Amino acid sequence: MERNYNFCAGPSTLPEAVLKQAQAEFLNWHGLGASVMEISHRSKDFEAIMVQSEQKIRSLLNIPENYKIIFQQGGAYAQFSMIPLNLLGNQTKVDAIDTGNWSNKAMKAMAKYAEINVLATAKDTLPEEGSLKFSKDAAFVHYCDNETISGVEFDYAVQSEYAPTVVDMSSNILSREFDVSKFGLIYAGAQKNIGPSGITVVIVREDLLGKANPMTPDVFNYELQSKNISMVNTPPTFSMYMIDLVLTWLQNQGGVSAIEKINNEKAAMIYNIIDSSDFYRNPVTKNARSRMNIPFTIVNPELDPIFLAQAKEHGLINLEGYRAVGGMRASIYNGLPLEGVKVLCEFMSDFEKKYG
Ligand SMILES: Cc1ncc(COP(=O)(O)O)c(C=O)c1O
Repeated sequence: MERNYNFCAGPSTLPEAVLKQAQAEFLNWHGLGASVMEISHRSKDFEAIMVQSEQKIRSLLNIPENYKIIFQQGGAYAQFSMIPLNLLGNQTKVDAIDTGNWSNKAMKAMAKYAEINVLATAKDTLPEEGSLKFSKDAAFVHYCDNETISGVEFDYAVQSEYAPTVVDMSSNILSREFDVSKFGLIYAGAQKNIGPSGITVVIVREDLLGKANPMTPDVFNYELQSKNISMVNTPPTFSMYMIDLVLTWLQNQGGVSAIEKINNEKAAMIYNIIDSSDFYRNPVTKNARSRMNIPFTIVNPELDPIFLAQAKEHGLINLEGYRAVGGMRASIYNGLPLEGVKVLCEFMSDFEKKYG
């Protein structure tokens, strides 16, 4: 069966080469006569996956030595609570920016543990760089680098003069180069650019460890996990194996700088179609537009279901907007090939000619 071009926001399309390799190795991994899912996580073969994945992320993102890389279960959502539990120490305040659904959900979860000082609320745009008034007594500053639903992505790193920055990069990590040293903690759910769901990558500066609330579960204690190659308990072994394959695939593409060029090209193609027409719209301010998630509407919303149905016939699937938002959304993560975006753009132009 032909594979479709899959624009799902998450869990999302994985590189075909990775899926094929997993398929080929499914029954008999590394000549063990067993699947990678069927062996002990304490075996040397499996441990190598944990160690190598960490090394690959370190080299792909150029992560300095004073940062630990941890693989956590429970999704990015769990981190909304685990971050304050691990980082607050005896402090009580968090500075937070609200740019949409995910940063808002994080703020609400963190409010169970700390007083939240909202630095800025922005919709379809970003707070102006340099305009934020940070608290002197916050334990950290939190924001979401890429709002997956509304398609708002920061074009600068938020940095307070008083506290480390904690950033949710679930939907744009590994899509572009950035300076890790500007952040105290970076976290990202795997199911967009890293692999299948079930794992969240946490990259944390060493000096922020050692402050975990005694009530923090061991499996969510960053310090404990960093000392145990993220295996205080059994990790989701198949997801970890897939992550390792995706990271190798990314290295083979030329790494993050190479994929960044392709990602920029993909996003520019779709925004060009939207901007050069009165038929499609994207409400996000230009400097805040996401290169990963592009929501758009058609002037006449009655055309939405027709667009989606015809797109599907062209092998372009999962273009529906977020369920509470409607319209369309094209999520174009690392694994979605340039060719898929070309096909989408041709389809969008033809659809406009027909119905515009
Ligand atoms: C930016 C962002 N943060 C957090 C989450 C929550 O992740 P999870 O469902 O893995 O807990 C998502 C999910 O899509 C997301 O896009």
